[in-house]
Amino acid sequence: MFANSAEVRDATLNDLNEIYAIEKESFSDPYPKPLLKAFFYHPGAYIVAVVRGKVVGYAIGIIRFRSLGHIISIAVEKDFRGKGIGKKLLHELIKRLSGMGAKKIRIEVRDSNEIAINLYKKTGFTTKEKISRYYPDGEDALVMFIDLQ
Ligand SMILES: CC(C)(COP(=O)(O)OP(=O)(O)OC[C@H]1O[C@@H](n2cnc3c(N)ncnc32)[C@H](O)[C@@H]1OP(=O)(O)O)[C@@H](O)C(=O)NCCC(=O)NCCS
Repeated sequence: MFANSAEVRDATLNDLNEIYAIEKESFSDPYPKPLLKAFFYHPGAYIVAVVRGKVVGYAIGIIRFRSLGHIISIAVEKDFRGKGIGKKLLHELIKRLSGMGAKKIRIEVRDSNEIAINLYKKTGFTTKEKISRYYPDGEDALVMFIDLQ
């Protein structure tokens, strides 16, 4: 499978420009680069997927209140989607957050983002609530959790 050829490793500050390029391509309301940089200094896991030396995806998860993991962002470059890389990043992020003490992990996702919702459901996340007009354009968010205990 293609995902097998993608190496997942810790992100470094040298990856920031490539991470930001994927962020801008992936979201209508991308995080600013300084915020993506700030997560390097927050307790949690910041990982990238690399194919032939190129960063093609990334995922950021942080730990809140010692035992709650929170997935801040996950994205794969358009040309590399649908090849198992998002799943690989998500599974690795969960493993790392669990290893850091997370008992539950939370993620917010746009109500219309079927692909991501499918990925989270398949991984074991369930929807706990819907937050009305969560996003700047007025779209609702689903708040999903996975219980690791
Ligand atoms: C969401 C995202 C990270 C998934 O990464 P990906 O590498 O494309 O996903 P994968 O190939 O690993 O597929 C994982 C699962 O996602 C779902 N999925 C992937 N492509 C899909 C499609 N075209 N239609 C429906 N479901 C799809 C499936 O459940 C799939 O599992 P399966 O292959 O066992 O059926 C990627 O699509 C992306 O970067 N999207 C834009 C950014 C974004 O929306 N991030 C999430 C924010 S909450």
